[in-house]
Amino acid sequence: MAEPHWLPRPQFRPRPQVNVLQLATAILATVAVTMLVTATPTLAEIPAKGKHTRLDSQQTAQDDSDFPRFAEPIANVTVSVGRDALMACVVENLKGYKVAWVRVDTQTILSIHHNVISQNSRISLTYNDHRSWYLHIKEVEETDRGWYMCQVNTDPMRSRKGYLQVVVPPMIVEGLTSNDMVVREGQNVSLVCKARGYPEPYVMWRREDGEEMLIGGEHVNVVDGELLHITKVSRLHMAAYLCVASNGVPPSISKRVHLRVQFPPMLSIPNQLEGAYVGQDVILECHTEAYPASINYWTTERGDMIISDTSRAGDKYETTSTVSGYTKYMKLKIRAVGPNDFGTYRCVAKNSLGETDGNIKLDEMPTPTTAIISEMSLLNRSYGKKTS
Ligand SMILES: *[C@@H]1O[C@H](CO)[C@@H](O)[C@H](O)[C@H]1NC(C)=O
Ligand SMILES: *[C@@H]1O[C@H](CO)[C@@H](O)[C@H](O)[C@H]1NC(C)=O
Repeated sequence: MAEPHWLPRPQFRPRPQVNVLQLATAILATVAVTMLVTATPTLAEIPAKGKHTRLDSQQTAQDDSDFPRFAEPIANVTVSVGRDALMACVVENLKGYKVAWVRVDTQTILSIHHNVISQNSRISLTYNDHRSWYLHIKEVEETDRGWYMCQVNTDPMRSRKGYLQVVVPPMIVEGLTSNDMVVREGQNVSLVCKARGYPEPYVMWRREDGEEMLIGGEHVNVVDGELLHITKVSRLHMAAYLCVASNGVPPSISKRVHLRVQFPPMLSIPNQLEGAYVGQDVILECHTEAYPASINYWTTERGDMIISDTSRAGDKYETTSTVSGYTKYMKLKIRAVGPNDFGTYRCVAKNSLGETDGNIKLDEMPTPTTAIISEMSLLNRSYGKKTS
């Protein structure tokens, strides 16, 4: 693509005796006409390559100190979308020549000399001693990304280009990203996360609690990419997952997706056989797992539901239940076991997907005279130790 420029043809060749005002007016008139004729106001074509080189070599043959010079390259600018950008062009020895800013990829003239040509109200111009020429772009948009050229209307035209990089912090595309999910154990699950931004964001999945994930038979901390695919999901996968998107432009962003895995109650009993002697307190234990949370209770051998009344101190039964995730630890305390308390107890767990139960047998043990004796001897031993 030919670079657009507003190089004045011979009639505009600047000479010291040319009236500056006339020149500016003439240039503006040319610009106006060109803008009328073509949608993109491309001005004169760049000279043919061979000719250009020849002109350049002629140029260097002349006394270069008479001509404007760029004091420094045009700095590339990187700016976050919505912020303001400033491109600077510093020309020494400008004399009667003019400086113009051109948007290269759209071939649009933005400013000539003191005038902003662009219709874009976000574009403005400031200058300093006819040496520094600043192109301001307010509230930068993604479409502003590209090359900007600073031209001086020497013949041949002299120019420098700088790149305006418009970066966009990552954002999650809600419509294309998974929301909280409830699935049955054993199903395959796909969590998807789509993110936008510039540069293209890097997306990964991890568990919010930092635990490893079992994915495709491997324990991993993070899964790279938009897709988190879990085959045969298990209750161990039940967690909050974070999709994290980052592209080096702060802030990074994440979305939390809760994965809930439903399964019918399961039950385990640490001791299915308990022994107690008459008069002793005993505790029976039962562990259950279920999601959604199950309703749990104990029954006696006759099938009566055991209701504990904790408000009544010294009640026969005390039931407690500690919840940790989808696990419940049930305890049944039987105070001062009597002859009628021996037998089979049952713990039951029910949820919408099913029901399960398990038995614990409480057997009578002989009154522990031996236990008392051994406790006594233990006391004597420690007493003996202390006095020795
Ligand atoms: C601007 O960026 C371009 C490539 O993107 C590079 O060639 C050029 O040297 C950069 N200019 C400056 C002044 O850093
Ligand atoms: C789950 O995925 C595995 C492996 O990709 C496949 O073999 C299986 O048929 C899938 N199961 C269901 C229920 O879609």
